Amino acid sequence: MMVAYRTRVHLALSSLSLALAASAVLAGGAGAATLGSAAGARGRTFGTAVATSHLGEAQYASTLDLEFNGVTPENEMKWDATEPSRGVFSFGPADTLVVHAQGRGMRIRGHTLVWHSQLAPWVNNITSGSDLTAAMTNHIAQVVGHFRGKLAYWDVVNEAFNDDGTRRTSIFQRLIGNGFIEAAFRAARAADPGAKLCYNDFNAEGTNAKSNAIFAMVQDFRSRGVPIDCVGFQSHFIVGQVPSTLLANLQRFANLGVEVQITELDVRMPTPASQANLTRQASDYAGIVGACLAVSRCSSITTWGITDKFSWVPGTFPGQGAALLFDANYVRKAAYASTLRALGG
Ligand code: G3I
Repeated sequence: MMVAYRTRVHLALSSLSLALAASAVLAGGAGAATLGSAAGARGRTFGTAVATSHLGEAQYASTLDLEFNGVTPENEMKWDATEPSRGVFSFGPADTLVVHAQGRGMRIRGHTLVWHSQLAPWVNNITSGSDLTAAMTNHIAQVVGHFRGKLAYWDVVNEAFNDDGTRRTSIFQRLIGNGFIEAAFRAARAADPGAKLCYNDFNAEGTNAKSNAIFAMVQDFRSRGVPIDCVGFQSHFIVGQVPSTLLANLQRFANLGVEVQITELDVRMPTPASQANLTRQASDYAGIVGACLAVSRCSSITTWGITDKFSWVPGTFPGQGAALLFDANYVRKAAYASTLRALGG
C-alpha cells in the first residue's frame, strides 16, 4: 500500500517536473530547444544574416523563423542598395526583411552605413572632403531615419582599419581623414537616438595590432563622449584557427563600457568537408559561444547565413565552404548541436 502510494507520488512529481521542463522549453528556459530560445534564456540574441531574395524558399524561411531571434540584412541596407543614385533612396528589400523580422519578434542589426565596399559608384566620383562629408551624413540621416525605432543596432562604420592597425585608405579616409568615423557616429545618433551604434571589423577577434588600434579608438570615443555603444567582431574563421585570445579581447573591450558582439560568424574548411574538420568545427563553434557567454556585455552572436547552400564563402574562397550550422540541405550539423549545447539548450 505504502509502496503504491510512494509510486503514485513519485509519478505525480515526475510528471510535474516534466511539465515544468516543457514549459521552460516553451518559455526559452533551461533546456531550450532552438538557438534563439536558448540564447534568449541567457539574455543573448542568436541571429543570422538573411538575404530577402531567399525568403521565398520555404525551408530557408522556416529555419530562420524557428531557430533565430535576430537578423542582419546580408546586403539590403548597404549603400549601393539604399542610395544607388545621389539623393535617390530605395528600401524595398530591406523593408521586406524588417517587416518579416518585426512580425516574429526578432532583433535587427542594421548593416552597414559607411563601408568602402558595395559603395554606390557615384560616391567614388566625389572629389572634395566637404562634399563627401555632406553625402555621408545625408546618407546616414536618410537611411537611419527611415528605419528609426525599428532597429536595435547599426553597424555605423565597417572595416576602417588595416591588419597593421593603420587606417584603410578608403575614399572616406582619403578625402575626410581620421574624423570620418566620429562624424558618422554623431550623424547616426542624431538620426535614431534609440539604436545602439557599433563599429564592426574582421581579423580583430584576437589581441593584435588591428584590435589594439580599434581599442584605442573606442577608448578615445568613450572618453570624449562620441556616441559608440558596441563593437562587432565579424569572426570569419578558418577551422581550427579561432584565436586563443578571443575571450580576453572581448573582455577588454567590454571593460570600456561597450557591448561586444560576434557579428558575422562562420568557420570555413576545404570542401568536400571531412568528418574530422566537421568535428573540429563543432568544438570551434562551442568555444566561440562559450567566450561570448563568459563576457556579460557580449550581447549577441550572428552567423553569416543560415545554410551552407547560400554562404558567401565558396564564391570568395574557391574550394572552401561548409562554414555554417546547417548544411546545403538544411540538415543540422555537428556544429549546430555543439552550439545549442554551449548555449545551454
Ligand atoms: O546585386 C547583384 C546582382 O544584381 C547580380 O545579378 C549578381 C551577379 O553576381 O551580383 C549581385 O551582387 C552581389 C551581392 O553580394 C548581392 O548578392 C555581388 O556580386 C557580391 O559580391 C555580393 O557579395 C556580398 C559581399 O559582402 C560583398 O562584399 C556577400 O553577399 C555578403 O555576404 C558579403 O558580406 C560581407 C559583409 O557585408 C562585411 N564583412 C564581410 C562579409 C563577407 O564578405
